[in-house]
Amino acid sequence: MRMEPLNLDRKGLVKLLALPDFSPIYRKADQVRAAHKGDTVQIRAIVEFSNYCRRQCRYCGLNCKNTTAERYRMTPEEILACANMAAEAGYRTLVMQSGEDPYFTPQLLGELIREIKKTGMAVTLSCGEMPYAAYAYLKSCGADRYLLKHETADPEIYARLHPCGTLENRVRCLCDLKSLGYETGSGFMIGLPGQTLETIADDLLLLEKIGCDMAGIGPFIPHPQTPLKGCPAGSIELTKRAVALARLLLPDINLPATTALGVAGGESENDIFSCGANVIMRKVTPDPYKQKYEIYPAHFEKTDIPAERAFLERRIRALGRIPL
Ligand code: 5AD
Repeated sequence: MRMEPLNLDRKGLVKLLALPDFSPIYRKADQVRAAHKGDTVQIRAIVEFSNYCRRQCRYCGLNCKNTTAERYRMTPEEILACANMAAEAGYRTLVMQSGEDPYFTPQLLGELIREIKKTGMAVTLSCGEMPYAAYAYLKSCGADRYLLKHETADPEIYARLHPCGTLENRVRCLCDLKSLGYETGSGFMIGLPGQTLETIADDLLLLEKIGCDMAGIGPFIPHPQTPLKGCPAGSIELTKRAVALARLLLPDINLPATTALGVAGGESENDIFSCGANVIMRKVTPDPYKQKYEIYPAHFEKTDIPAERAFLERRIRALGRIPL
């Protein structure tokens, strides 16, 4: 049966998000994914090299007001050792993520990027907001991609949740990254207090406006040591719907099955590969740091980089997809 062309403006997106039966849209998103991205699933390594953060994001366990968080910084040697292990295990991309930690100056990050690039891996940075000149310098050191989620496209919700930043500056950073030639990733959370289907439609349209190359869309998960501890977690179903609509709106982008979705949904991480996603990230952060990078509560198994990658490859093949 042929489907009517979908209306993907704000009103159309709201209507689609609220459909009683979303399965035809999932099927369509899966077809668009296959046509534009093929059947591969890109597995990307992520090393969380510092959980120091100067910001106060009210949903995040790493916000600087959380004095119960045990803070750590990996040494440059530890970071490089981890990068080498990831490369040896077959990873083609290393995502370097941290809180906004001024200890890691552009200079220091630049030196790390130059070393890591020698492994042949692509380098994605996810270290928060920086001035244009810093982004430009890191690009010149070899950084390929940058992840900086806009978190919510509603300026009021944004202001309420981020005492130390504005949506305007967030979007400015994303536009800077794009103009510098980074493959640019944004994204947002589903289930933030005050969010409506209209907000989610705006989130999707903002991805389009920025011209994102990637989008991480994940459910909000309450962290007990944050001001949002009493708020309900975001809906997995609504998260999957947003991922599917992102695929329809932006057929060529890379869409990760976000870690938070795996944590909250168990099996839904498998499922998400059938509604538009084509990327997955795996932590390669060494013990004992891994468990301390607690953005939201989660339990992690002991790190074994090659074994975890092999396991994930098998799972992806079992779904009829090709791990890369
Ligand atoms: N639940 C889900 N995702 C969260 N993030 C931060 N805190 C939470 C939470 N409590 C996400 C944000 C951020 C990314 C690193 O983690 O989207 O960009």
